[in-house]
Amino acid sequence: MDTLHPDLNLLYAQHLDALCARADAALQREGFDHLLIAAGQPHYQFLDDRDYPFCVNPHFKHWLPVTQAPGSWLLYTPGRKPCLVYLQPHDYWHVVPAAPAGYWVEHFDIQIIREPAQARAHLPRDLSRCAILGEANAAIDDAAPNNPSGVLDYLHWQRSYKTDYELALMRVASRLGARAHRAAEAAFHAGASEFEIHMAYLAAARQTDNQLPYGNIIALNEHGAVLHYTDLAHAPPAQRHSFLIDAGASFHGYASDITRTHAAAGAAEFKDLIDAVDAAQTGFCAKVRSGQSYPELHLHAHHVLAGILKDHGFIRMSAESAVESGLSSTFFPHGLGHPIGLQVHDVAGFQASDSGGTIPRPPGHPYLRMTRVLEPGMVVTIEPGLYFIDLLLARLKDKPLAREVRWEHVDAFRRFGGIRIEDDVVCTRDTPENLTRDAFARP
Ligand code: GLY
Ligand code: MN
Ligand code: MN
Repeated sequence: MDTLHPDLNLLYAQHLDALCARADAALQREGFDHLLIAAGQPHYQFLDDRDYPFCVNPHFKHWLPVTQAPGSWLLYTPGRKPCLVYLQPHDYWHVVPAAPAGYWVEHFDIQIIREPAQARAHLPRDLSRCAILGEANAAIDDAAPNNPSGVLDYLHWQRSYKTDYELALMRVASRLGARAHRAAEAAFHAGASEFEIHMAYLAAARQTDNQLPYGNIIALNEHGAVLHYTDLAHAPPAQRHSFLIDAGASFHGYASDITRTHAAAGAAEFKDLIDAVDAAQTGFCAKVRSGQSYPELHLHAHHVLAGILKDHGFIRMSAESAVESGLSSTFFPHGLGHPIGLQVHDVAGFQASDSGGTIPRPPGHPYLRMTRVLEPGMVVTIEPGLYFIDLLLARLKDKPLAREVRWEHVDAFRRFGGIRIEDDVVCTRDTPENLTRDAFARP
């Protein structure tokens, strides 16, 4: 067996059993007889005949590892083999989706159609008892997505708990990402521009931009202070100080989301700061355990990072006061992380129960994307950062709190932009599984 591609036959069969059981429960609770999932249809650019890259309905790719099947449908009726209505148009303009193949095929009753409208004949005649999940533009005649909130709430909640099959796919996504990160780091040290580093990343991941789970963040020097920096400068900077890369990879519809920060040769003080954040981040990852409140972990991270600011001479006040006064948010202005899986920012991060509801963020932390208590099977990112962001530093300078900042030292670090270290971590019944560190540890 190829070490990059685990044997998925058995894992997939178990995964499908789990999805059928979840669908049975969702339909029964909400009073439906069938679950219909539309893969989706392309979206077109305004006043144009060009479509945006196709992004499949995540509910569809939860059931099978098919991400390029616009116009296809999945029909599940409790007690029956799931049915895939698969669109393979007679088309000489575009690549026609390949004939179904692989470990999942035997588990479906597959109906091939040649026109999107032909799907309707394979869907239940009476749609009144169907939960239909999808985007509005996927509608075929009267088969229009109704997205019942009770069904979505239940399925989204359950999606938080990854099956062994999903974890196997996420391990591969992490290994593809780690491999590409190594190539990017080598390109940085060889003097490449942001654009050239990006190309080295894509080549090593063997994925195009559209296949990645999100747009790469490839930031040299002060560009690292822009949290979602997605420009790609073609010219290398005259002097290189630092490199922040936030880039993932996809495998069978699952994402990895990985950030590393590197110091240029000779930037010893910045390297020390990276090492401090890295050690702190490793400590946060170790706390990804069943029963741990994620927002409490986020607040804990603020305290530890404020301690680093103090130890490294950026602030005068105690770590405690830096968190209480909000000062730490100038340097760590985003959340500690988020759920990840079929979507890089996966669903249900705020959900109170399998019937919906919202767990609010702690006051003063508007960007946190996960407020739940961790449980086995959840996968979250842990991505603390420290940044030197001109806009936020300028706002701080106008406040009395500015006296607590050692500005000369802060100013000397602006050229490095910032630091973020991000891993994808599985909460288990025991010690956490760090998908990212495990991936980097492999040859
Ligand atoms: N790459 C996006 C994020 O880290 O959330
Ligand atoms: Mn992330
Ligand atoms: Mn990221």
